[in-house]
Amino acid sequence: MLKQVTTASSPQQVWERLSHNEPMFILDVRNRDEFERWRVEGPHPVPALNIPYFELLDLEGEQEDVVEAVIRGVRAQLMPQLPSDRLILAVCAEGNTSNYVAEGLRRLGFDAVNMEGGMEAWGNFYYWRPVDGSAHFSLYQVVRPARGCVSHVLVSDGHAAVFDPARHIEIYRELAADVGARIEKVLDTHLHADHLSGGPQLSQRGNVPYHLHPYDAIHPIDMLPARIRYRPLEEGKTFRIGSAEVTTLHFPGHTLGMVAFLIEGHYLLSGDSLFLESIARPDLGGKAEAWTPLLYDSLKRMLQLPDDTVVLPAHFSDIAAGDANDVFRATLGELKRSNPGLLKLAEGERAFCDYILANLPEFPAAYVEIKRANAGLVSPDESKAQELELGKNICAVGKAHGVSGDKAALPDTHIASAT
Ligand SMILES: [Fe+2]
Repeated sequence: MLKQVTTASSPQQVWERLSHNEPMFILDVRNRDEFERWRVEGPHPVPALNIPYFELLDLEGEQEDVVEAVIRGVRAQLMPQLPSDRLILAVCAEGNTSNYVAEGLRRLGFDAVNMEGGMEAWGNFYYWRPVDGSAHFSLYQVVRPARGCVSHVLVSDGHAAVFDPARHIEIYRELAADVGARIEKVLDTHLHADHLSGGPQLSQRGNVPYHLHPYDAIHPIDMLPARIRYRPLEEGKTFRIGSAEVTTLHFPGHTLGMVAFLIEGHYLLSGDSLFLESIARPDLGGKAEAWTPLLYDSLKRMLQLPDDTVVLPAHFSDIAAGDANDVFRATLGELKRSNPGLLKLAEGERAFCDYILANLPEFPAAYVEIKRANAGLVSPDESKAQELELGKNICAVGKAHGVSGDKAALPDTHIASAT
């Protein structure tokens, strides 16, 4: 009987392979700037080679078979650099051109598959994991690995709350259904700039309230009030999801209305105030000088929580920062010892503010528009939403594009470099 040849891998299958550290090689045929911006990566280093499709292919005429041209291009340019001992994943923007590349590689005898749906599908892939829990509640982390976005779902006695949902709201509805809970509250830690919130849509879909701090219901650059229905979050107020108690803590700095949620006095959904590898950038409202001292005061207050508080941030910049279960978490005590932003905090306000203002990453133009969309001031369609959400988040100070990869194993100049 003929062996079935696998020709494509879904984002889920690619993630499982990456997560289990199964040998793989990535051949990415997008343009170099697109590859530098983001690429398929997992918790373990994966060798990758970037050669733009138009450089690989030299079609001899309009009638030439594209796969034949791929074979010719690979023979002429890539043979010594392609491994024969592992799967090669061909990647492009939408998974169409890379399909020809994978086919050409297979005809040359390589074990190659196409990344189904390309980077577009990879960017919209999510997984979820249980974080922890107790007899009366469970906490889940929903991760969008390509963009470094993290949401959380608290479940207790059949009730669920979703914190910082991304725009693909089905994942939260599926999770709730899987664990037999009903979503009764949707909350954002702040008005996000890097991704489109699923909060308002998820709340409408389930006819449940959406919560935001009122200071974030004003677009900070346009100075226009949001056009969304929300219930105001307030410092120190406590609410219950089932039998689990949640306290809202106001930590302005990244935004004026930035909050964190303390669950059962032990799990801190820190939003974009404190990350595992860095701290929030305070410049996305266009007022870095004024907001940096607020961030200083907020982090000082946050550090008064017990050292064993489990910090669960809304983003990561390094995908390798997850634990063995791909969960992004650390205790406050651990972060006090390792987080560069918190270490700088100990040097006093002046040193902290100088450090922040000297380490602000680029300000993506799309972030102003994403905040408009999240405030309900504009309504991007699907293709505009895809365009706005291209690339990894740049929400942290210092580490703009955490690209990891096994560079030492790869001699080619087109290989990803860490920035
Ligand atoms: Fe943010």
